[in-house]
Amino acid sequence: MSNSLGTLFKITSFGESHGDCVGILIDGCPAGLPITEDEIQREVDRRKPAAPGTTRRREQDKVEILSGVFNGFTTGAPLCLLTRNQDVDSAAYEKSRHMPRPGHADYTALLKYGGFNDFRGGGRFSGRITAGFVMAGAVARKLLGRLDIDIFAHTVEIGGVRAKQPPLAEIKARAAKNILWCADPAAAEEMARLIVRAQEEKDSLGGIIEGIALNIPAGLGEPVFDRLDSELAKALFAIPAVKGVEFGAGFALARMRGSESNDPFALEDEKIVTTSNNAGGILGGISNGMPLVVRVVVKPTASIARAQDTVDLEKMAPATIEVAGRHDACIVPRAVPVVEAMMAVILCDFALRANMIPRVLT
Ligand SMILES: Cc1cc2nc3c(=O)[nH]c(=O)nc-3n(C[C@H](O)[C@H](O)[C@H](O)COP(=O)(O)O)c2cc1C
Repeated sequence: MSNSLGTLFKITSFGESHGDCVGILIDGCPAGLPITEDEIQREVDRRKPAAPGTTRRREQDKVEILSGVFNGFTTGAPLCLLTRNQDVDSAAYEKSRHMPRPGHADYTALLKYGGFNDFRGGGRFSGRITAGFVMAGAVARKLLGRLDIDIFAHTVEIGGVRAKQPPLAEIKARAAKNILWCADPAAAEEMARLIVRAQEEKDSLGGIIEGIALNIPAGLGEPVFDRLDSELAKALFAIPAVKGVEFGAGFALARMRGSESNDPFALEDEKIVTTSNNAGGILGGISNGMPLVVRVVVKPTASIARAQDTVDLEKMAPATIEVAGRHDACIVPRAVPVVEAMMAVILCDFALRANMIPRVLT
């Protein structure tokens, strides 16, 4: 298995959906960062189910700092952060343990780990492990605050409904006003309606999240193999259910000419800027100082109550599965803070690699 990410700000994810806890170990966090459980809790609370059609599993998600903080400051030693699982109901999983859910990782996990894997609630493949990602993101975000880097994400599409894009400077505040994290209130209402309808129809919806980072210094990224875009993509693809990542104009670049896609350079207050941002703030795998813009595609939730074909692996016979249990009819709103967290973790790692953040903070 590969459960660690990063070079200097190195995170290791642990825990299972129905085990004792989920959490994150951070190695390489500079000493001297003031951090409290409450600060991390605020980020974790943003990931809790609140939107229509989200899981009825109600976890307290109370953040605990087990190590690496002394007298309110990080010590430079590994930070161990976790939240204990409390609202666990494994009955539905026990009943259908030999019937892999279409679209979920049950089948591949069983093949790879020979049946020893904890399958309850999806085990290591559950969206629950992203609570640990968000804890790491909270620490990374605080470190990046020293460079005035601001990271936010918002829902741009659910179930085929596209949000109108407000000016960049207004997105963060507008998205914070509704539980779908969508900066277009009319689109958010329509999205919410569609999610409820999909759930009533025993179905689920997917969508697109856009992540933005402002005030990124030019020069982050280590080509050729640790490019800023490739490392961000790796981190974002670690979020279960993410199926696509694009930067700037992304796949639309395929239909542009060079004269349209190139971002012309200009001078603004003696600073080099580009007058468009089709590159999404990254050239040659290195940040160019423009806003970093990345979009991720989140697939429709695999676990749906509608009858679907599967195979009973015990009897080796065709079977039908209706997934009971508590599932999100749309993962998108819950993944928004997770996208922010993964962006923060990667940007923090590169800022440390570029010596933009000292190892001991004063
Ligand atoms: C925040 C979050 C919540 C999720 N909730 C569910 C869920 O309730 N039901 C489900 O089937 N999948 C859920 N997922 C997605 C699955 O974990 C994921 O689809 C599965 O592990 C298979 O991996 P893949 O889709 O990346 O191939 C969630 C993902 C995230 C990020």
